[in-house]
Amino acid sequence: MKRPIEFDDIADIYDYYVTTDLDIPFYLNQLGRLKGQVLELMCGTGRVSIPLIKQGISLTCVDYSAKMLEQFKDKLSSNNLQARLVEADVCKLDLGSRFDAIFIPFHSFMELIGEQKQVAALERINAHLKDDGVFICTLHNPGPRTRVVTGEKVLRGEFLLPNEQTLVLYSKEQINQGRSMIIGTQYYMINNKSGELLLERQIDIAFSLIEKDRFEYLAKRAGFTVHKLYGDYSQGSFDYRNSPFMIYLLGKSEQWHPGDK
Ligand SMILES: C[S@@+](CC[C@H](N)C(=O)[O-])C[C@H]1O[C@@H](n2cnc3c(N)ncnc32)[C@H](O)[C@@H]1O
Repeated sequence: MKRPIEFDDIADIYDYYVTTDLDIPFYLNQLGRLKGQVLELMCGTGRVSIPLIKQGISLTCVDYSAKMLEQFKDKLSSNNLQARLVEADVCKLDLGSRFDAIFIPFHSFMELIGEQKQVAALERINAHLKDDGVFICTLHNPGPRTRVVTGEKVLRGEFLLPNEQTLVLYSKEQINQGRSMIIGTQYYMINNKSGELLLERQIDIAFSLIEKDRFEYLAKRAGFTVHKLYGDYSQGSFDYRNSPFMIYLLGKSEQWHPGDK
């Protein structure tokens, strides 16, 4: 089945253009003190995982892209680090164990398209969380995120690759009719050092726009309670109009009953 974003097709170049570390101090702060087992979902090539493992955090990392995991595995062995990597869909997760903390970095929960998948993932996550565990779920705040959608093809940046090659990345995004998703295309051009085009790739992208109240309703239904909501990675308080992100710290709640709001 076609995935909303086919990460297998860009796994070899992902680390050259996704170089941000804006969220790393947040995770080190939240998880660094923890002695137990931590589960990272939608881990990709280990952008967040590697700094956490270096701090001694014991990680199990899940992703459904075999190629993203291959990149991650190479980085682990070249850094002489260890983590358990599992190729699996978060909506069908069944690891047979429970964790002290679970997190989804980089707003990737939004890559689950449609409420059926979002609910399935939340239920599987709840089943893998210890009773006193914490689930950190990160999402874009739909208002500010949609304000930067222009419908135009926009240059995202130029990035250096090995052998003096350059990656030029453009993207085009639009909001779908029901305003429930951002859909679009990313365009990758790889040039040699003289600027000649060597290779072009294109991938479709799609991610859900999930409003705060809706996410909280779904999380509650899946057995979570909201402990904290931050609006950014400096742990600033959430402002519905302006905060770029919704960064949730969730715990397990008492049983949810139909009819509960
Ligand atoms: C934007 S990347 C983020 C990777 C990494 N966490 C980071 O911060 O750089 C999203 C990742 O989620 C994975 N993913 C998307 N949907 C998934 C699903 N249903 N189950 C498991 N992994 C999924 C993709 O394969 C991709 O590696």
